[in-house]
Parts: sequence; C-alpha cells; structure tokens
Amino acid sequence: MTKIKAAITGVNGYVPEDILSNKELEKMVDTNDEWIVSRTGISERRILKDKDKASAFLGTQAVKGLLEKTNTNPLDIDLIVCPTVTPDMIFPSTANLIAGAVGATNAFAFDISAACSGFVYGISMAAQFIETGRYKKVIVVGAEKMSSIVDYTDRATCIIFGDGAGAVLLEPNEEGYGVLDFELKSDAVGKEFLHMKAGGSLKPASHETIDAKEHFVYQEGQTVFKYAVSGMSEISKLIMDRNGLTGENLTWLVPHQANKRILDYTAKRIGVAPEKVMMNIAKYGNTTAATIPLCLWDYESQLKKGDTLVLTAFGGGFTWGAVYIKWAYDKQ
Ligand code: UT7
Repeated sequence: MTKIKAAITGVNGYVPEDILSNKELEKMVDTNDEWIVSRTGISERRILKDKDKASAFLGTQAVKGLLEKTNTNPLDIDLIVCPTVTPDMIFPSTANLIAGAVGATNAFAFDISAACSGFVYGISMAAQFIETGRYKKVIVVGAEKMSSIVDYTDRATCIIFGDGAGAVLLEPNEEGYGVLDFELKSDAVGKEFLHMKAGGSLKPASHETIDAKEHFVYQEGQTVFKYAVSGMSEISKLIMDRNGLTGENLTWLVPHQANKRILDYTAKRIGVAPEKVMMNIAKYGNTTAATIPLCLWDYESQLKKGDTLVLTAFGGGFTWGAVYIKWAYDKQ
C-alpha cells in the first residue's frame, strides 16, 4: 500500500457581496424570519447579482486567493476538480474555465456532478491522483451560483440556497496526514425527490419547459430530510468505526450545510457534541458543493495539525459520502 497521502495544505473561500436576508425574502414569498430560522437555521445567504458572472467566476476568485495564500505558482497545478450543479455551460467544464482564468495552463481539469456530495466525491477522487505519486498539486473547488436555478416564487426552495465557492489545495504527505479514508455512495431512488426536470438531453430547453418552470430545483423536502439524516449519520459512523474514531477523539465533524436540524440530528445520532460540529449555514445557506470548503475556510484558524476531521454530505441522486482527514498544518 502506498505511503503517500493527500494532505490539505491550504483552503480559501469566496462569497459574493450581496446579501439576501430573511426579511427581504418575506417581501418576495409568503414566509417569515421566524419560520426560516427555526426550520433551517438560515438567516441570510449571498447572491451573485451580476448576470455576466457565474460559477466559474466564484471558483476563480476562490482559487486565485488560494494560490496567493499558499504561495503557489499556477503553472505548478496538475489538476483542478470542480464539483458543481450550476456549471457556466453544459460544456466546456467549469473546472476548465477556472483553470484558464487562474493561468493553470499545465493542469487538466474536469467537473463532478454529484450535487451536494460533490465536494466529498471530489476530494476523494483528487486524493487518488496524489496517492499514485504522479500528481503533486491538485485543487478541488466547489463553486455554485445556486441563484441561477432557484425559483424565487417557491418558498419551499428559495429560502435554502445561496451562492459561493470554496477551494482546497492537496499535496503529497508521507507523515500520516491528509485524506486517510473515504466511503462514497449513490442510489437513483432519490432522483424523483430532488432534481431539475429540464435542460438535459431528456428534456432540452423549450418554450414548454420554461413555461412549466422546469429549469429550477425541484425538491420534496421532507423525504430528502429523512434520507439525509440517515445517510450522513450511517456513513459517518461507518468511517468512524473503521478508523477507531469516537465522539471523544474526533476533533471536528464537517457536514454539508443542508439544514441546521439535519446537522443537529446527524451529530446526535453519531455521538458528536454540538461544539465539535462546523456550522456556518446561518450566513451562507446551502451552497451545495461549496458548503464544506466554506466551513473549512471559516474555521481554518481553529484547526490544528493532527486534528481529526470527518467530512460528510448528502445530496441529489441520491449521493452521499464521508471522508476522514488528519489535518496537516497550523495556520500561521
Ligand atoms: O442539500 C441537500 C439536500 N437538501 C436538503 O437536505 C433539504 C432537506 N429538507 C429540508 O431542509 C426541509 O424539508 C425544508 C427546509 C425544505 C422544509 O422544511 P420542513 O420542516 O420539512 O417543512 P415542510 O415541507 O414539512 O412544510 C411544513 C409547513 C407546510 O405548511 P402546512 O402544509 O403544514 O400548512 C409548508 O407549506 O411549512 C410550510 N412552509 C413554509 N412556511 C413558511 C414551507 N416552506 C415555508 C416557508 N415559510 N418558506
């Protein structure tokens, strides 16, 4: 077995300036701040209002900052992986656009379609490239302009989602730090509960699909909620048991920020205390593939070398997964 592991050596995030508060949503749909906060934990989310900018812009900002922070030459980047459900275009990939924008001209780049589980899929895949010994610098950047696929007349979905991007740099480590284990799952049973009906090859855009509002997120929230709690708790427990992790010796649970109640139930089921759960859903909402790196970015100053982290996510597909990481650095 290879000794090389893929360690996160830097993290950065980017969110657009414009804030969409619960108070503003009250003017748009029949909802109220009290309902949104108590049912989801969300107070506000960021929205990229510029119609000429999209996920690649958000991802580019996150990656540019990451390269600066880590003093990395873009020409040294081998691979950029971009999990996203809101690519700028169906093709070329958003990862490809980000690589071009940051000057990573020696990298190859591709997107991952795994909805809210995109980041755990992406980091697991990126780690495999590093472990071969052939790739030395890999970036995973979750980037989402969710506002481009949200119906702001549908109170069941428009309160949840926000825009943003988060990126990590992965490099080889032979001292036992980095991505130590992962488990990923998918089950098409979920496709009817969370999807976008049109815009793909099954139902290309037409006047009818637009009139029927089929280019927006469709979600049956209660069903997804139940699957999300059982999916994230079971897979996190599996990873913890397999690696001798318990509620005591785990430093951080880093869950996809879907809904505060989902995160609370998940943590409780696996015996992780609330103060060990990274949470920033109140200010960004659900940014799909960007939630986990945005959490790592927000909590970076609290992370210490040797900390044990379990990242976990659940999303459309269904897709779900968990990743065990031993944190590799103290922030300077
Ligand atoms: O990111 C990965 C995948 N996504 C998720 O993990 C999301 C999972 N689901 C959820 O987070 C929650 O199901 C929602 C936040 C989407 C909805 O919360 P809920 O507690 O499951 O509400 P509900 O759908 O059961 O609706 C309860 C009531 C309904 O009214 P009645 O039928 O009881 O009169 C809804 O019409 O709340 C109503 N409602 C609202 N009321 C005020 C639904 N949305 C709103 C709203 N404001 N925005």
